[in-house]
Amino acid sequence: MLGEYWKAIAEFKRLKGYHAESGKLALSMFKLFVNYSEPGQWGTGEINAGERKQLIDWLIEAADIPGPVVEIGTLFGFSTMALCEGVHRSGVRKKIYTVDNYVWNPFGVPVYRHRMLTKHNLTFAQSLTDLVIVDSTADDFYTSFTEVPSLAFIDGDHRYESVRKDLIFFKNIGARAISGHDYNFPDVSRAVREVLGEDNLTVFNGTLFLYKAP
Ligand SMILES: C[S@@+](CC[C@H](N)C(=O)[O-])C[C@H]1O[C@@H](n2cnc3c(N)ncnc32)[C@H](O)[C@@H]1O
Repeated sequence: MLGEYWKAIAEFKRLKGYHAESGKLALSMFKLFVNYSEPGQWGTGEINAGERKQLIDWLIEAADIPGPVVEIGTLFGFSTMALCEGVHRSGVRKKIYTVDNYVWNPFGVPVYRHRMLTKHNLTFAQSLTDLVIVDSTADDFYTSFTEVPSLAFIDGDHRYESVRKDLIFFKNIGARAISGHDYNFPDVSRAVREVLGEDNLTVFNGTLFLYKAP
């Protein structure tokens, strides 16, 4: 009981420090999000409505391809819900893994709270599909994951080296399709072009990419 009290005090102090340093940015992002934005429009990280629809269509098209769907970068679960909806609507039962270590969110929500919100958001999707929420870094996940995905969706760490690592992992493991978000980020498009090439690549809206293994 006393342990919980001290934990709460420590968290309060941490948050005070956090808000003094970067709280202004988090607050302005939050205001932008609440007041003006269509989801996914203002750099708050998640896919937007058009991308969501496209992703669902790709999953329905991939119904006959066996293997689980794997996502790197859950955030609050918006793209995860699209993946679950696509699999559910395809009529084929597939496992869906979503991986995040909750290292980033646009509002500066603390890690434990971010994790809690995301799990809560995904309750309904989990009741309809075989969704596995993996609380891990992408790298740690890769050390033990051996299934061949029908589709991998990459939207985690957007730095060149990390995206490259994600793409190489899924290409080498034999993923039938590799998709991802933020192709408009130079680091992302560079890694995608280098690792996957452009021949079997489709880009939707300038942001969402899909590579189909030949
Ligand atoms: C842009 S957001 C994902 C948005 C989400 N796919 C959507 O459309 O709703 C990026 C997410 O990747 C996570 N992330 C960043 N680096 C990671 C890593 N090395 N391993 C796992 N997750 C990571 C962050 O915590 C964040 O939640």
